[in-house]
Amino acid sequence: MSSIIKISPSILSADFSKLGEEVIALEKAGADYIHIDVMDGHFVPNLTIGPEVIKKLRPLTKKIFDVHLMISPVDNFIKDFSEAGADIITFHPEATSNTLNTINLIKNEKKKVGISLKPKSKIELIKDYIEHVDLILIMSVEPGFGGQKFMPEVLEKTKLIREIINKKKLKTEIEIDGGINFENCKQAKEAGVNVVVSGSTIFKENQGNLKKNIEILRTS
Ligand code: DX5
Ligand code: ZN
Repeated sequence: MSSIIKISPSILSADFSKLGEEVIALEKAGADYIHIDVMDGHFVPNLTIGPEVIKKLRPLTKKIFDVHLMISPVDNFIKDFSEAGADIITFHPEATSNTLNTINLIKNEKKKVGISLKPKSKIELIKDYIEHVDLILIMSVEPGFGGQKFMPEVLEKTKLIREIINKKKLKTEIEIDGGINFENCKQAKEAGVNVVVSGSTIFKENQGNLKKNIEILRTS
């Protein structure tokens, strides 16, 4: 049985020499969110884009900017990403000394809050915050790079988080991020995910046919 899930293509796998065109193409191809991976070369061993680039992309589309902050410290950048046009701001609890304070900083900006779990992080790290956030981002690869191999062991904690959300009748979304392809997307959905991030599968499969790849992931 295939149920509708949201697709959030990661522009980390896009052609950075024409990011604007790529974002417009993703909107046309039916993306639900645009996943923007921000990396600072400190929290993760890679460096990507900052608020200035997001500010330039913002007027090109009305699509939700699902901004994944792999930066630390994170608090002093929340306002910048909010003003740049982020709609969902997701951070890693390891990047702050006070998770609830970071959640409130994002809420004060009237933005949706996401909190992320790295593959080896236990759900105890975020359990107490589930009802305070709009989205839980389950990393199925070590953060830092696209094109890595999916880590199926994260599906166990995904199921647990789905159970907690359902039991408390929360609207919190579960987003999975890293190594998603046409085969493992079904498993992720069965584990309770309702938003799928994908970079390399969407941009590289079927000669880069964005619309086809988004559709296959959505209905797999
Ligand atoms: C990795 C990023 C992911 C990554 C996904 O640190 O958070 O969003 O870009 O890319 P794929 O789908 O290629 O693993
Ligand atoms: Zn990401």
